[in-house]
Amino acid sequence: MKEHDQRGLAIFSGKNFTRPTAYVLLLSLSYALGYLSSSSVSTKEQASRIEETPQSNTPRKNATTDSTISLQSEPDHFHFTTQCADPIPSKLVRRTIIDRVFNGTNPYDGFPPAHVSHLLRRKRIKGWGSTGAVFENLIRKVKPRTIIEVGTFLGASAIHMAELTKRLGIRTQILCVDDFRGWPGFRDRFRDIGMVNGDVMLLYQFMQNVAHVNATESVLPVPFSTGSALEKLCEWGVLGDLIEVDAGHDFHSAWSDINRAYKILRPGGVIFGHDYFTGADNKGVRRAVNLFARVKGLRILLDGQHWVIDSP
Ligand SMILES: C[S@@+](CC[C@H](N)C(=O)[O-])C[C@H]1O[C@@H](n2cnc3c(N)ncnc32)[C@H](O)[C@@H]1O
Repeated sequence: MKEHDQRGLAIFSGKNFTRPTAYVLLLSLSYALGYLSSSSVSTKEQASRIEETPQSNTPRKNATTDSTISLQSEPDHFHFTTQCADPIPSKLVRRTIIDRVFNGTNPYDGFPPAHVSHLLRRKRIKGWGSTGAVFENLIRKVKPRTIIEVGTFLGASAIHMAELTKRLGIRTQILCVDDFRGWPGFRDRFRDIGMVNGDVMLLYQFMQNVAHVNATESVLPVPFSTGSALEKLCEWGVLGDLIEVDAGHDFHSAWSDINRAYKILRPGGVIFGHDYFTGADNKGVRRAVNLFARVKGLRILLDGQHWVIDSP
């Protein structure tokens, strides 16, 4: 017998243990084995429960794929805040955001602060499909008093919308929901965006861009994660007539943003977003939009690379 086998046996030999200690060890071992086997049974049971609720026309061999989990059997995936506060009038939206988000002080007052002004460029814009025809088409159609943009970056599309509404003579407040962090590694392509002690100057460069085109009266940042910001807008009764969703492009981010944004869409409004057809849709935007439309029974319209869904 090999040396390590002998050592293993020795653990249970009478030489090293008194009889009560050996009993305790055996008892613990059998408890542990029983626990392990019982948890593996419950996992199997769980799997078979999912298999036992296939959609009527789904072949059983696909029983463990997502498509077999009926929409009703997994309600948590489809459950987002159900009830928003009563909508506040459009004319109170700007004041509400300044009060609730910025403690009553206009964030553009005294902008830019001295310690960052040397890091900002007069104007630094970069967008993706940010000036497509869809923006003018929808603004003409909806005549929005409140636009909510979910995902703003340097403000290319927000500024385009501000210029369009001004040109069309519509008094519109545009709320830009973004954590203004970009994404991990984004500075590989945007090295010129300053950083102070690890704090990237995306929010300030966005504000500078807005100030540069004299749009500070119509464009406000809401500098938080999309999930928490959209929940709060719902809680405060801040609804959008036009909502653009263009933040995280993976399925789960897009799914959550679209569902939350739709909650705060004013009746008669329109929700839309980029990357239905571009390379980024592979990450999940199109799948999220399609699933959302299917669950809600809504129709998807297409405008260039943008998807568009009207409120019912
Ligand atoms: C594609 S860019 C938006 C581009 C902009 N709509 C345009 O056309 O100019 C995506 C933005 O979403 C923001 N973002 C991504 N996930 C987010 C999240 N969970 N919360 C807040 N912002 C997020 C990023 O910081 C980034 O600025």
